[in-house]
Order: sequence, then C-alpha cells, then structure tokens
Amino acid sequence: MSASILDGKFLSQKIRASISADVLDWVEKGNRTPKLQVILVGENPASETYVGAKTKACKDVGIESDTLILPDTVSEYELKGVISEFNKDQNTDGILIQLPIPDHIRKLSIIEAIDHRKDVDGFHPMNIGRLTVGQPSFRPCTPAGILEMLNYYSIPTKGKHAVVVGASNIVGSPVAVMLSRENNSGKATTTICHKFTKDLTKHTIDADLLIVATGQPGLITGQMVKEGVVVIDVGITRVADHTTERGYRLAGDCDFDTVAEKASWITPVPGGVGPMTVAMLMKNTLLAAKNSIYTD
Ligand code: GUN
Repeated sequence: MSASILDGKFLSQKIRASISADVLDWVEKGNRTPKLQVILVGENPASETYVGAKTKACKDVGIESDTLILPDTVSEYELKGVISEFNKDQNTDGILIQLPIPDHIRKLSIIEAIDHRKDVDGFHPMNIGRLTVGQPSFRPCTPAGILEMLNYYSIPTKGKHAVVVGASNIVGSPVAVMLSRENNSGKATTTICHKFTKDLTKHTIDADLLIVATGQPGLITGQMVKEGVVVIDVGITRVADHTTERGYRLAGDCDFDTVAEKASWITPVPGGVGPMTVAMLMKNTLLAAKNSIYTD
C-alpha cells in the first residue's frame, strides 16, 4: 500500500475561507471585530514562527490581533497581572500564551489565570474538564484540527483502535479523550503511550489510527505499524540541515517514507496538522467573540 495524503494545508484554507465569511457576517451585523491577544515570553525562534503564523491567519480572516512580547525574566506575578488586565478588557475576546514559557513560571498556574471564556487554546482546566465530561467547551486546537481532518476525509474511527503516542496536555491527552468520546471522529478504543511505555511497537503495530506527538524525529518507522494504518504525525522539530538556506528542515515523528509505504493515509510534515491547528484557533476566537460556548 502507498499512503494518500491528509492535506491539512488545503483543508485549513477551506476552513479559513468559511471563518472569514462568518467574521464578515458577524461584523456586518454591527458587532465589534473579534480580537485575539497573544502573549509571547522570551525569544524562542520556533515560537516566534508559530505566533507569526497565528497573527497572519488572524489578519487573513479579519480577526484583529495584538502580540505582547515579554522578556524571559518576567515573573509569574507580573505575567498574571498582565493576564488579569486582558481578562478584564472588553475588547479582548481570546487570550493565547504561546508555550513553552520559561521554567521559573508555573505553566499550569498561568493557564488557570486566563478567564476560561477567553481560553481559545482550550487548555484551562474548566475547558479540559468540560471536554472530558462532554459539556460544550473550547476544544484544544491541535486535537480539534486532527478530528476535523479525520471527519473531512471520512476516516472511520468508531470501534477502531486509536493509539496515541505522547501524553501532553496540549495534544496527546485531549486527543485521546476526544477520540474515545466524541460523536464525529470519535468512539474509538484508545490507548495512550508515552516515554515510559514498554515495547512501544507492541501497541503501535495494533493501531488502526496512530497519532504521534512526541517531538522525537523518526521515532515511528514502517516496521512499527500495520498495513493500512491511518497516521497523524503531530511532530514538527527543527533538525539542522546545512543544505537548506535557513540551516534546518522540519521533521515529523515518523520516518515518512517507510511509514507511508504501509499506511493508507498519512499527514505530511509540514502541511499536515500544523495549519489545521491555526485554523481551529481562528474558529475558537470567533466562538469566543460570539460568547457562544458557555450558554448553559
Ligand atoms: N506551543 C505548541 N503548541 C501550542 C499551542 O497549540 N498553543 C500554545 N499556546 N502554545 C503552543
């Protein structure tokens, strides 16, 4: 078998065009232009690139955005003060703190400081909790983008074995919850693997759907998957490559060529999950502006 491509770039453009029309409609009805406030702490080249992509997407779909850049010496107390101001600001609909943040700041404490009604990343315990019990919530962008892709390409998940490698709060844990519960692209039997998993191949080889989110380039090889598997590669790591102009290339968690030989579907890196994450952020920001999640 040779895999077909799950084209996140194409699908994200389609979704962005539809969000763009929705934003225009919202504003034409006399509402304020939705606004996303991004906070970037310190100088991390990858984070700067991601934030650049997010603010460009805002501009493209008609959402206003502002990026506050803070030095990596900022204290947790100061950062919470900044968040508190944005929580109160009537013109700010969504607040996004680009991760990672420096180690001296307690990440979970910062996420909890964001008003959950403005938590467009869907990381606040209120949103994760509601997601887990099936209440309306902001859905974390990368997992939401993955389910959107599976749904669009009509990939069956009900009763299938979904294996998630990586148990992070950003991707692995919430995607496992969503795949096991949700009606669209859910209802799968789900296994979560992580760095303590013994004999990873024992699990990956049994996957009908394999989601890999570890940040370890090439972790999954063709020998570790079965024929016909659907593979979602969330990894996007900068690997030194002096043959390229910028000095690096982007590598996923899968050894693409050997995995694609056996898979039925696979996401490319780049152009797979990444653009879907950004599209879902736009969707969440518009939902935040409409204040339409917390209706019950
Ligand atoms: N860092 C890596 N992925 C993400 C994400 O989805 N949101 C934020 N805020 N930071 C990230």
